[in-house]
Amino acid sequence: MLRRPRRNRKSSAIRDLVEETQLSVKQLIFPIFIIDGDSQREEVKSMPGIYRYSIDLLLEEVAACRDLGIRTFAPFPALTDDKKDPFAEEGHNPEGLFPTAIRQIKENFPDVSLMTDIAMDPYSSDGHDGLVRDGEILNDETLEILGKMALTQAEAGADILGPSDMMDGRVGYLRNLLDEHGYQQVSIMSYTAKYASAFYGPFRDALDSAPKSGDKKTYQMNPANRVEALMEAELDYEEGVDMLMVKPALAYLDIIRSLKDNFPIPIAAYQVSGEYAMIKAAAANGWLDGEKAMLESLISIRRAGADIILTYFAKEYAILQTHLPDL
Ligand code: PBG
Repeated sequence: MLRRPRRNRKSSAIRDLVEETQLSVKQLIFPIFIIDGDSQREEVKSMPGIYRYSIDLLLEEVAACRDLGIRTFAPFPALTDDKKDPFAEEGHNPEGLFPTAIRQIKENFPDVSLMTDIAMDPYSSDGHDGLVRDGEILNDETLEILGKMALTQAEAGADILGPSDMMDGRVGYLRNLLDEHGYQQVSIMSYTAKYASAFYGPFRDALDSAPKSGDKKTYQMNPANRVEALMEAELDYEEGVDMLMVKPALAYLDIIRSLKDNFPIPIAAYQVSGEYAMIKAAAANGWLDGEKAMLESLISIRRAGADIILTYFAKEYAILQTHLPDL
């Protein structure tokens, strides 16, 4: 036998030497949940280890994560029902919880970057990403609302806008609007291939944002489709997007690879709430090793072609990196 692949696996040092994929904390974005009030910290039941923070405690959490090397965060506001209406008005209230949090994070940590979500669901009494009329999700009318939201977030200091709504034409619409208002430097990372997925369940618990009626299948993609993701990416690319994102991650590694092979811009993947919850739940039951499953899932997402990963494991991963044995 001349070719013995096991020779390249014979020791930890050799395995490290031939390792094809690396993951650095630099490539991670940490999603964080914000609530109103003072000194509030509530754990999201279906996401052990993940909390909703009031702004004062959020600033402490950002500081702690920043010390661990995490530099980009994706904040999401969890609003009470009295702040929600059919038009998502609170989404463009400059004094609202979300813009206030953005301003405070940027004032306290100018070197931290924020990727902020553009979609109506946290503010919508219908729990949909777009405007609902007679049971239909209106596309072009939604764009105007998303536009107001985008300007409010840009004005508050967001670095990257993340349209997660899946309306047609949103990237071009937002790009033009941002440019007209002098926000040429605000980036767009679109949720390009966002699938209608069961894995968003725990996130909807975190924000209490599940649709009140129907589902999201007329705007989020069918999990059975791959070619359609290329078309979505093509449109976003033509419309001036800076980075493309695939969501969820682990069940869509082929989509990540397709986008990576076809588009010359950074590709991100969102390891969503349900992916986190599955690993945490199985680990809590002693059914698998949670830390190893975390590392394996993250490296697989990188290997598939993701340059950037949004993950609820960001802090845990960063802590683990600081405790690597000295050799
Ligand atoms: C809202 C949005 C969702 C997520 C991110 N932005 C939920 C949804 O589309 O229903 C999900 C994130 C997660 O599950 O971690 N448009």
